[in-house]
Amino acid sequence: MQPRFDVEQFNAPASSAPSGAGEQSATPRKLRGILSLDDFETAARRHLPAPIFAYVSGGCETDKSLRGNREAFDGHRWVTRVLADTSRRTLATPLLGQTYAAPFGIAPMGISALSAYRGDLAQTRAAGAANIPAILSGTSLIAMEEVARANPQAWFQAYVPGEKERILKLLDRVEAAGFKTLVVTVDTPVSGNRENNIRAGFSTPLRPSLRLAWEGVTHPRWLLGTALRTLALHGMPHFENSQATRGAPILSSTVTRDFGARDHLSWEHLALIRQRWRGPLVVKGILHPQDALAARDAGADGVILSNHGGRQLDGSASPMQTLPHVVDAVGPDYAVMVDSGFRRGNDVLLALALGAKFVFVGRPFNYAGAVGGEAGIRHAIGILASEIQRNMALIGVSQVTELHPGLLVKHAA
Ligand SMILES: Cc1cc2nc3c(=O)[nH]c(=O)nc-3n(C[C@H](O)[C@H](O)[C@H](O)COP(=O)(O)O)c2cc1C
Repeated sequence: MQPRFDVEQFNAPASSAPSGAGEQSATPRKLRGILSLDDFETAARRHLPAPIFAYVSGGCETDKSLRGNREAFDGHRWVTRVLADTSRRTLATPLLGQTYAAPFGIAPMGISALSAYRGDLAQTRAAGAANIPAILSGTSLIAMEEVARANPQAWFQAYVPGEKERILKLLDRVEAAGFKTLVVTVDTPVSGNRENNIRAGFSTPLRPSLRLAWEGVTHPRWLLGTALRTLALHGMPHFENSQATRGAPILSSTVTRDFGARDHLSWEHLALIRQRWRGPLVVKGILHPQDALAARDAGADGVILSNHGGRQLDGSASPMQTLPHVVDAVGPDYAVMVDSGFRRGNDVLLALALGAKFVFVGRPFNYAGAVGGEAGIRHAIGILASEIQRNMALIGVSQVTELHPGLLVKHAA
């Protein structure tokens, strides 16, 4: 049975709103015990082969940034307002000329179709049904054209190659596929040092090995429901969207992936992209206020502050730490978005109070797709939305745009 999910429900007056954790009856049985986004991680750890779980969950080197992303939410406490009549509160959020049903969306995650059956499609469909944005990763395994057909509102994230010709060809393809909003990720001049992937036996492409086979056999629901089902119905997945043409297969003992040179990318390349791309342009992976200013001055319509979920530079600041400084630099009207470590409605509200316009969430939606497919992702969206809706009443605001730093005090963690 499909879970009851109607995005209008979390924009409805409080009396008829879902209570997330309490709304049990229409939720598929396997999702009923899942009351918070973190519960999806526990379930995904059991469901997925260890190398794949390690790829999704991991940070890099000492995981300082990964931990820091969670710790950053502990620096404030709410100073609530009362008797504010919040009975008509709404999560509706304006962003880049659209109004979304909630102030959060799904961050781009490569290889999502390895952890969940047709994972990119599941994410984009669930987001489309909820009227929230989903960003298709450039390192995804389902052709961008198919994803755009499933959800014409989806955004596309490019890891732009370093060569101008290849950039322009990729953008031609993205535009022809029908995407309007382009996200350019800029925090990956080189890949982070993800030792945990190597220790867990993960690589891209995956190398066939006895260990990998054993992991498959010992995770039969993933083997049958994701791996074999994909192979039987769609053939060997390839990196479909990194370039204008199809890339390497996901499983191969011989092929090496062409990452394209990216460490010489500069603001000139962004200018070229801005010149070429007609729709909204977002730069993802910014931490420094000066870089946010440079992106704005280069014509980007918004930025996503991010340390890539703690997967790139170990010891990088959490975007929540730099958010107030960035907002100071670019001004209150610029579309400053943020991701990395968001797990609770409260986290989202805190970012909005500190000046963010929107929040993106990564891993929990990946786990939700692995554990419950599209229904799992809808369940995850519902949980986060209902946490936000409940806490808006407890804080005393009716619109997300009413949140401001005056509702917070600093808290020494
Ligand atoms: C499995 C995985 C794959 C990712 N792949 C990409 C990607 O292809 N492009 C990108 O810009 N960011 C990628 N990211 C980073 C996310 O977009 C996002 O910045 C990060 O996951 C947010 O942190 P969170 O997972 O703690 O919510 C990936 C993250 C994960 C966990």
